[in-house]
Amino acid sequence: MDAREVLARLRRGETLDADQIAWFAQGLASGAVDDAQAGAFAMALCLVPRSEEERVALTLAMRDSGKVLDWDLPGPVLDKHSTGGVGDCVSLLLAPAMAALGTFVPMVSGRGLGHTGGTLDKLESIPGLNVEMPEDEFRRITRDAGCAIVAASTETAPADRRLYAIRDITACVESIDLITASILSKKLAAGLDALVLDVKVGSGAFMKTMEDALALAEALVETSSGAGCPASALITDMNQPCVPAIGNALEVMEVMEALTGGDAGSLICDLTADLGGEMLRLAGMADTRPEGAEMVMGAIASGAAAERFGRMVRAMGGPGDFVDRWRDRLPSAPAVQAVPAPASGYLTAIDAEALGNAVVRLGGGRMRAGEKIDHSVGLSDVALLGDPVDAGAPLAVVHAATDSDAAMAVAALTGAFTVAHDVPDLPPMIYRSVP
Ligand code: URA
Repeated sequence: MDAREVLARLRRGETLDADQIAWFAQGLASGAVDDAQAGAFAMALCLVPRSEEERVALTLAMRDSGKVLDWDLPGPVLDKHSTGGVGDCVSLLLAPAMAALGTFVPMVSGRGLGHTGGTLDKLESIPGLNVEMPEDEFRRITRDAGCAIVAASTETAPADRRLYAIRDITACVESIDLITASILSKKLAAGLDALVLDVKVGSGAFMKTMEDALALAEALVETSSGAGCPASALITDMNQPCVPAIGNALEVMEVMEALTGGDAGSLICDLTADLGGEMLRLAGMADTRPEGAEMVMGAIASGAAAERFGRMVRAMGGPGDFVDRWRDRLPSAPAVQAVPAPASGYLTAIDAEALGNAVVRLGGGRMRAGEKIDHSVGLSDVALLGDPVDAGAPLAVVHAATDSDAAMAVAALTGAFTVAHDVPDLPPMIYRSVP
């Protein structure tokens, strides 16, 4: 077989069989497929959606282009993937809560992308903590703490690593087939028994419409199940952050408040409980999502999740006393300024993407690949939808490296909040589940 044969089939509008797709994925990983051929492949898939069989074959082929883990542990191996949002630090609460319930969560996670934050960047606000490690250490921490949140190694789905970089420079990121195979090839390489997908929709998500979110959720669930990993998805609201903060250390502070104060009724705790409840249902440890959600809330409220988080942080090189001393351990920014409300009324809309972009510009995310970030900057005390506000009162507090950075962020953010007279209808936390 050669790459031209595969590309000619795509050009003629023919379907590819699993062998042809496997050959192409191996060629991406080995270099037998060159950049031009990889670019043509990506563009062909962007232009013409593929069948479910082809999507499953591409996912498995990209997963199998690298190392696939298997486990021998006394509990199910589970994970959750979010399609990305702002102020979405659920993974940091969910992984230790699930560990406390006897499941194992080997979470291969990512860095910030565009206006959205990344779980690895958030974790790295903890001094000394290292998210890059050899496989034997990842296995050891997962076994001992019940959870480990790490970066993908170069051995994880190398075909996706190469194809993703080429998609990025050929305007071929936005294809449901390519996004699905890319996300799942890396997640399934961790050897999961089940996966829950948190597909975000709204002003801070990549998917701005329910139609797009539903199409992605269905593709992810069908493909994961077709590849042998039972999966379900919750389509959740991203018209406001999951916590009243955006920025790496500021979000870890919110997670620590939740882990040590466990407030049912806060968005982060409720969302974590529902996603975890769904994981427990898929794993057969709860009959229904609400029953599982109660178990997750219990693990947070009892302090068991905080204990697991502390164990994971210590094993990954962070401070041994982090759970007790997190206020002293996390970095804080020197310049602090409030974003004033333009009028009195109720907060009716938030441009969450603008909030995420403001944090990137403060240095909390990257404009170019590989850039160093400032973990201390971001927004705290962000008002949430439906909150009553008084003219001039703070809608958010900017944390910046300098006063001029803070002033620029305040100016950029003034238009990102809409205040009106009438109490708005609040979006639900979960729109629907798939299936
Ligand atoms: N995240 C991924 O890992 N891949 C994509 O294609 C999009 C988001």
